[in-house]
Amino acid sequence: MSASVKKIAVAVVLALAAWFGSGALGFPHVFQAMFVAYVALGLVVFLLLDAPPMKRLSGWTAAAALVGFYLVLSAIYIGGASSWPQYDPEVEKGKIEKILKRKRAMALAEQSQVDALLEQVRVLQDDSQTMMARLGRYAPAAAVAEAPPEQGALTVVERGAEVYDLYECYNCHKIGGKGSVKKRGPVLDNIGSFLTVNDIKRKIFDPTYLYAKGFEKEHKKGRMPDKYKDLMTEEEVTTLATYLSTLKDPTAKTPKPVFVKSNVEHGFTVFGYVRDASGRALPGTEVHAVPQSGHGASGKTNEAGYYEIFLHMHNENAGATVEVSAQGVKKTFVADYDPSDTITRRQQSLDLTVPAPKG
Ligand code: HEC
Repeated sequence: MSASVKKIAVAVVLALAAWFGSGALGFPHVFQAMFVAYVALGLVVFLLLDAPPMKRLSGWTAAAALVGFYLVLSAIYIGGASSWPQYDPEVEKGKIEKILKRKRAMALAEQSQVDALLEQVRVLQDDSQTMMARLGRYAPAAAVAEAPPEQGALTVVERGAEVYDLYECYNCHKIGGKGSVKKRGPVLDNIGSFLTVNDIKRKIFDPTYLYAKGFEKEHKKGRMPDKYKDLMTEEEVTTLATYLSTLKDPTAKTPKPVFVKSNVEHGFTVFGYVRDASGRALPGTEVHAVPQSGHGASGKTNEAGYYEIFLHMHNENAGATVEVSAQGVKKTFVADYDPSDTITRRQQSLDLTVPAPKG
C-alpha cells in the first residue's frame, strides 16, 4: 500500500505545481482546473496498475458489462454537455449571416453615397452657376442612402428581439421560458412593469446602474457584462430596450430592480450622443464637461457616438451650470439635483450636434 501512498503524494505535489504554475503563467481558472484534472487522471491510471487483477469476464456477463460501461459513459457525456448553454450551429450561422448582411448593406449604402458625391462633383464642374440649386436637390438623395438598411419588414419590437438574440442576452436571461439553462441572471418576462425604456438602456450600457433584487452577489461580482456600450449602436440599444419594456407578464418571477444608491453624493453623470447635422453618429469625438465651480472632465464617444462623463460634483455644487462642448459647439444645463436626495442618480442627458469633421 505504501506504493499507492507515494503515488498519491507525488500526484498532490504535481497538482499543486500544475495549479500554481499555470496560474503564474496567466492561464484562466478553467485551464488550471483542467491541468489538475489531467494529473488526477494520471494518478488514477497509476493506481489502477497497482490494483489486483480483475476476474476475467466472458459470455453474457462480458457483453452486459460492456453495454453498462458504454451507458455510464454516455450518461456522463450527455449530462455534462446539456448542462452547458446550448449552441445550435444553424442558429449561430444565421446570426453571423445577419451581422454580415447589415455590414454588407452598410458598405453598399456607403458605396452609393460615394457614387452620389462623385456625381455631385461632376455636376458642379459642369455648371458652377447652378451649384446651390443642385446641391439642394442632391442632398436628400444622400440622406436616403444613409438610412438604416432594410428594416422595412421588422417592427421595432421584432427588431429589438433580434438584437436580444444577436447579443446573446439569453446566455444569462430567460424570456418565455427560453434561455439560460443555469440561473445566471433574472427572468425578464415582467421587466416592462418595473423599468422604462430609458432605465433599461442605462442598465445595458452601465450594469452598475441598478440590480435585480436577490442578485446582490452576482451584481457585486459584475456578472452582467460591461461591454455593450462599446458594441451596440444607438438603434440597437433603443430597439432592444423598447422590446424589453413591452414584456409585462405579472405571473413571471422577474425580480424588482433596485437603483444603486451608493456614490450618488459623489458625482454627476452627463451622457448623450454626438452627431453631425445629418444625424450621423460621430465616433471618437472628444467631449468636455465643465461645471461652473469645480473640475471639468472629458470623454470620447464610442462607435455609436455615445459618451458618458463622470463629474465630481458634491451636494454643495447643486444648481451649478455645466458647460458641455465638442468640436467648438457648446451647450449648458443646470445641474439642479436635490442635495437631500441620496437615492436618485444625478445625471443629465445631453446630445450635441456638431459640424461634420473635415476630410
Ligand atoms: C453573463 C451573464 C449576463 C448576460 C450575458 C446579460 N446579463 Fe443582464 N443580468 C445578469 C445578472 C447576473 C443580473 C442580475 C444582477 C444585476 O442586476 O446586476 C442581470 C440583470 C439584468 C437586468 C435587470 C433585471 C431586473 O429584474 O432588475 C436587465 C434589464 C438585464 N440584465 C438586461 C440584459 C440584456 C438586455 C442583456 C443583453 C444585451 C443582458 N442583460 C446580458 C447577467 C447577464
